[in-house]
Amino acid sequence: MSDRITVTFRLNGSPRRVTVPPMKRLLDVLREECDATGTKEGCGEGECGACTVLLDGRAVNSCLVPAAHADGAAIVTVEGLAARGRLSVLQEAFVEHGAAQCGMCTPGMLVTAAALLDGARGRVPSADEIREGLAGTLCRCTGYQKIVDAVRDAARATRRAAARRAATRRAAPKAAAKGAAKRPARRVKRNPAPKAQPDYRRTATKIRSGTKTRAATKFRRAARTRAAAKKQASGKARR
Ligand code: FES
Ligand code: FES
Repeated sequence: MSDRITVTFRLNGSPRRVTVPPMKRLLDVLREECDATGTKEGCGEGECGACTVLLDGRAVNSCLVPAAHADGAAIVTVEGLAARGRLSVLQEAFVEHGAAQCGMCTPGMLVTAAALLDGARGRVPSADEIREGLAGTLCRCTGYQKIVDAVRDAARATRRAAARRAATRRAAPKAAAKGAAKRPARRVKRNPAPKAQPDYRRTATKIRSGTKTRAATKFRRAARTRAAAKKQASGKARR
């Protein structure tokens, strides 16, 4: 029996496939096989939380998870928090508040806080709730207050952004209706009335009967001109 197994999972949205010993730590799989070195090793014993990642949405200490457990899972590391190279709201808040100092705990702290805010579903958690939620992740530098402030600020900013999006969604149909009211009514092109066709039969009758309509007079004049031209031409021919 082979001492290695093939494990497939999604890492920050991208599919991954690695062949590793089944008991290799997920932390090492991420750092050594996937180049996801954002995840740090602190204690290596499940005490400090520096190695925290999200495994199917749950914050876990990756130093305690064997590779085999990651098969088929969706994993999010600190690298997955910044979408398209832009820091997330939470990361920005950490920078603003000085909540990242030596940085050793920061990846685990950010991932744990992201899971906490996700669970709060738009609510701003209290300072106590945040302290309790982050209790498994240790920080030697910040004294925690800056981290708590950053997480609360990020929750408020996320809520404001959600409210703005909802307001925009609500306003969109009204704006569309207003725009439609302002716009001048579209002109409907009507087919022009068909032109009256000359009634040739009636004109011919009038010509024959000598009635003086404009068409009959014109016709007679043209006929006379043609006859004169014909006569002139035949005279010239005889000479
Ligand atoms: S390194 Fe995993 S909990 Fe400390
Ligand atoms: S910032 Fe240094 S351990 Fe947290």
